[in-house]
Amino acid sequence: MKRIHTAILGTGFMGKVHTEAVRRLGHVDVVALAASPGRDTAPLKESYGIDNVTNDWEKLLKDPSIHAVHICTPNSQHAPQALAALQAGKHVLCEKPLAMSSAEARQMVELATKNNLVHATNHNLRYYPMVQHARQMIAAGDLGEILVVQGTYSQDWLLYDTDFNWRILAEANGAARVVGDIGSHWMDMIQHLTGQKITSLCADTMIFHETRKRPKGSVETFTGKTLAPSDYEEIAIDTEDFASVLVRLGDRCRGAYTVSQVSAGNKNSFRFEVYGTKCGLKWDQESPDQLWIGHRNSPNQIIVKDPSLMHAAAAGFADLPGGHSEGYDDSHKQLFRRFYRRIADASTPIDYPTFEDGLRGMHLIEKVLESSHKRAWVDC
Ligand SMILES: NC(=O)c1ccc[n+]([C@@H]2O[C@H](COP(=O)([O-])OP(=O)(O)OC[C@H]3O[C@@H](n4cnc5c(N)ncnc54)[C@H](O)[C@@H]3O)[C@@H](O)[C@H]2O)c1
Repeated sequence: MKRIHTAILGTGFMGKVHTEAVRRLGHVDVVALAASPGRDTAPLKESYGIDNVTNDWEKLLKDPSIHAVHICTPNSQHAPQALAALQAGKHVLCEKPLAMSSAEARQMVELATKNNLVHATNHNLRYYPMVQHARQMIAAGDLGEILVVQGTYSQDWLLYDTDFNWRILAEANGAARVVGDIGSHWMDMIQHLTGQKITSLCADTMIFHETRKRPKGSVETFTGKTLAPSDYEEIAIDTEDFASVLVRLGDRCRGAYTVSQVSAGNKNSFRFEVYGTKCGLKWDQESPDQLWIGHRNSPNQIIVKDPSLMHAAAAGFADLPGGHSEGYDDSHKQLFRRFYRRIADASTPIDYPTFEDGLRGMHLIEKVLESSHKRAWVDC
């Protein structure tokens, strides 16, 4: 198989996760990294084992030997970096939320399509094996008609007013914080699972901390717990800490989800429940190898990941036998594998989230804010 050269833009939480997952594919080499302007590149060269580390991401786009880029920078950088990469003829895998607005996301879809380049939005949570098993159960009609969907994505890392990250700032993150950051995953997931679109919604968003104490230095994701009080300055906040959203899917399905970054004790609690006329399903990202199946007239079940016992179409999303857990890192690897298969062979079917999915996500994020602002239902 022809080797593919890729570059990773952004060297924070996701930059590391992407680099490691790409390296597990086998036929894709991470040949370059772009760090933020001014960042010392020497420790990055050492820790990543990559010589080509630059503070100038645009320089990497001029290198004809680089075929693809991963965008792992704050949301405000996604559209400018993706559009420039697409203009330079690179395939692009971009983190979610895809952009700052649906207008930006639409430009990205249009340019990727025009230049005939492979494009993906990193909704990696789709790629846990038991999520794919649940999806196949729903598609096969095992649940009957889907009546109700419920869920949450709850975290606690922004509970205190001293907790800070670029996501707090609308200029770096976009207008919707918790809805864009983690609500985007939940809305993508529920549509992916059920095969139904969110057709209308009614949302209530809340900013609990109207001011926060910003650290005077920079803070990468999940690293802000070690600062002293004198290291902060107080600023006004305009991005939400919490949202609850009622949703309608398709013609008859009803549901609701909450998203929060201020729910003590929840580290990365992503859960969905799907209830049909025959049975129900529950899944929790923090126990990803298990799927609960609920029955009305017989004992409920918990089934565990085992590719030899899973739906055939889901088994290909598990690389390890039963009893060997597969988690967050593996979900990225599964998505990236499908993205790079498409780059290697343009006739490969698209079975990963594209920029169109990211655009749909941006549209829904905007609808959540519109609904909350109007205190009313909105059509999507
Ligand atoms: N799919 C997922 O599960 C998941 C999880 C977390 C974050 N994300 C997304 O990944 C993206 C990055 O989030 P993160 O948590 O890694 O943030 P982070 O703050 O940990 O890392 C961002 C990095 O980008 C760098 N950067 C900023 N501007 C840059 C520029 N112009 N050029 C090069 N580097 C630049 C920063 O220095 C930092 O190292 C966000 O869009 C976020 O929504 C996705």
